[in-house]
Formats: sequence, structure tokens, C-alpha cells
Amino acid sequence: MRILFIGDIVGKVGRQAITDQLAKLKKVYRPTVTIVNAENAAHGKGLTEKIYKELLREGVDFMTMGNHTYGQRQIYDFIHEATRLVRPANFPDEAPGVGMRIININDKKLAVINLQGRSFMQDIDDPFKKADQLIQEAKQQTDYIFVDFHAETTSEKNAIGWYLDGRVSAVVGTHTHIQTSDERILPRGTAYITDVGMTGYYDGILGINRAEVIERFITSLPQRHVVPDEGRSVLSGVLIDIRSDGTAKCIERILINEDHPFEM
Ligand SMILES: [Fe+2]
Ligand SMILES: [Fe+2]
Repeated sequence: MRILFIGDIVGKVGRQAITDQLAKLKKVYRPTVTIVNAENAAHGKGLTEKIYKELLREGVDFMTMGNHTYGQRQIYDFIHEATRLVRPANFPDEAPGVGMRIININDKKLAVINLQGRSFMQDIDDPFKKADQLIQEAKQQTDYIFVDFHAETTSEKNAIGWYLDGRVSAVVGTHTHIQTSDERILPRGTAYITDVGMTGYYDGILGINRAEVIERFITSLPQRHVVPDEGRSVLSGVLIDIRSDGTAKCIERILINEDHPFEM
């Protein structure tokens, strides 16, 4: 099984990058399944039903989320029917949505798990214990298990990667929007990367307009985040090959921007 995973799609520039690049990427890499992190897809915060459907039309098979899951009010209306989406599993049970789904791809099953870290983030349930519980559940149906760990610190991401090594096919980090170059197969067969990076405005700060962010650092005053509608884009992702026993064979980074153009 080959998984193409694309990191946090930020606003319109990120969505445009999907429109421009995904068909080409799929043609070249022929993934079995394409998963994206969509927590910032709607104006940088959350996801609307229209964008959810748009991404599916563009060739995305499945979406993961993060701390911005509930950033758009209308998610409350459609998350229950959004069968191709997971939100962090360690949110309280009362929060709408589910944290793991087992999807059918051809004749195989893939469990997609979304978890969120707690260091410098919201104090939610323990992602490590939640992972134990979900893996046990998933293993009854499949050895193909993909985890998007949405977290702030490299240490917490490293920790969950090692903690889950040999028990899941892949642990990919999201949330910090900057791609790390530490992709590897851990000794027991789990593909790992600390952060996949984001897909959005290349000349901004984490996909957001520079001016207000710089101003905030200089003045320490609150500033409105502006997510531009146009500009140069970056697309960040990984390609992971998984053997039939659920262990990963390889993980390769994808980074496409004007400095690193995609050549077919
Ligand atoms: Fe994000
Ligand atoms: Fe995030």
C-alpha cells in the first residue's frame, strides 16, 4: 500500500496548490490512498462542508484535522456525516466527530488515526493512552495503521513515534507547518517524520501574511491573522510504502515550491 499524505492545507493558496499539483502527483507516484490534513483549509481555520466536498472532488480520499477542527461553526452540522474525516481522537468524547476510521481501499483496510499533543497545546486526554486503545481496536481488522500526530513540540512527536514503533505503519507529525528532514523507518518498522510541513502561502509565516505576524512579535499586541487568497505556494507531503504485514518499507518527503519545482 502506498500512502500519499499532504500536510496542513492553509486557505485558498493551499487549496489552489492541491488543484494545481495533486493530479500530477497522483499520476507520477500512483498512491493507493491520498490523505491530507485539512484543519486550516477554510481561511486558515477549520473546514467547511463546501471545502470538504471540493477536496474530495480534487482527488483527496481522506482528511485529518487538529486544534482548528472546530474553527468554522458549520463543522458542527456536517462532521457527523463526514465519513472521510477524523479529528483528534483524544478530544473529549462529547466533542463531535470521531478520531479513528477504518477505510476500505480496494480489498484492503486502512485505519486512520488522528491524535493531538499536549505540550504547549490544549490540555486534552492523553494521546499515548488513547493510541494504545485505538491500535488494539484497529488491529482486530487490519495491520495497516496510519497516525497523524498533530503536535507542537518535536520531543512529544519523537516520543509518540518511538512509543508506537512496530505497532503502526506510520506516524507523521503535523501542526508546526515547517517540514522537517528527519524522515526514517524506525527499527521495528514504523515510518516516521516529525513534521510533514504545510501546503499554502510560501512567502508568509506558516501560511499567514507576514506583516501582522511580525508586528505582533515587535509590539506584543494582538493582531489579526490574515491568510492571503493569492501568492506563491508550497506543497508539503510524504509518500509512504507499506508492506502487507503493516510495516513500512520507505518514506520519502515531497516539497514543491518555486525553489524546488516538481519535475515529472
Ligand atoms: Fe495547521
Ligand atoms: Fe494545528
